[in-house]
Amino acid sequence: MSAAKAPVRVAVTGAAGQIGYSILPRIAAGEMLGTDQPLILQLLEIPVEGPQKAMRGVAMELDDCAFPLLEGIVMTDDPRVAFADAEWALLIGSKPRGPGMERADLLKDNGAIFVEQGKALDDVAADDCNVVVVGNPCNTNCMIAASQAKRLAPERFTAMTRLDQNRAQAQLAKKSETAIADVENIIIFGNHSPTMYADFENATISGKPAVDVVSDDAWLKEEFLPTVGKRGAAIIEARGLSSAASAANAAIDHVKSLATPGGPLHSIAVRSDGNYGFAEGIWASVPVTTTGVGTYQVDTSFQHSEFAVGKLGVTNGELVEERDTVSSMLG
Ligand code: NAD
Ligand code: LMR
Repeated sequence: MSAAKAPVRVAVTGAAGQIGYSILPRIAAGEMLGTDQPLILQLLEIPVEGPQKAMRGVAMELDDCAFPLLEGIVMTDDPRVAFADAEWALLIGSKPRGPGMERADLLKDNGAIFVEQGKALDDVAADDCNVVVVGNPCNTNCMIAASQAKRLAPERFTAMTRLDQNRAQAQLAKKSETAIADVENIIIFGNHSPTMYADFENATISGKPAVDVVSDDAWLKEEFLPTVGKRGAAIIEARGLSSAASAANAAIDHVKSLATPGGPLHSIAVRSDGNYGFAEGIWASVPVTTTGVGTYQVDTSFQHSEFAVGKLGVTNGELVEERDTVSSMLG
């Protein structure tokens, strides 16, 4: 009989929030790192009695699930306790936007969180800690945190655009009346904002080019792209709250894909080294293949039309602007 695996320490910030409530039971059930992987959850909330109390309530519910894989729960208001020896850190805790706001409007408030947490990760996280930023605006927050963590490799800092990929996949499946699994290679380029480019030109449906199957250029350009790009705002408008179940689901997909070498291409925002015309040093979403647990290679083989290159230029321009806005927060 093989020995049981050692537990992995998983830090989750914003543990009392909406996404926290959706994601924690799924992580503890083994949906993220595998059903044979024991774990210790290290939960962070702000030092305010309301969220602290709510976090204790979430932990009580986790206890009550009697998850066999869950070997311990740490609860704290100190990032240095939450991130100690963490191999995965999910940075969710931050303000969500309300109706009428853009995610970039959160930069000033949320950026400061990622300065502090980047430094704390640098001080105490495992050397090969994989940091996943969900809190918005996630690309630029991820850049801020990585810039503060000089000990950790910037490649280990990724921001979540998987929700956008999942949204795009679902929209293409609906339009073409095919199964979700038949839609492949649909990749998000750029920012997690309405400027993102959901690359329908390289997507396939049942192995054929999506553009041929859909056969409706106007729909792809004028309905599909804005629907995916503005889906977060549509959810806020409908629910009065930002997406949570689908965001938690996407964060699980993001980590699962990043922890599973050899799986299909997936979209994550990573530090740009100039591929696809993205400015070096910003965090832009691109296609990657996972090469090891937490390591990946950017797929540079995608071909783009003039239309797509124009879209990539716009989303790059926005990311450069965001970087310039937060220049004082970069380490
Ligand atoms: P929420 O307000 O329900 O919960 C956020 C929680 O984070 C709160 O409990 C708050 O107390 C906590 N928090 C705030 N600052 C913190 C800090 N410094 N350290 C630890 N915890 C802190 O919000 P939510 O709906 O869970 O969303 C969280 C973030 O995720 C928002 O920024 C939202 O915009 C973003 N989001 C991103 C995506 C994506 O696709 N990248 C999708 C959905 C939501
Ligand atoms: C989303 O895409 O649902 C999240 O980023 C929340 C938001 O502000 O849109």
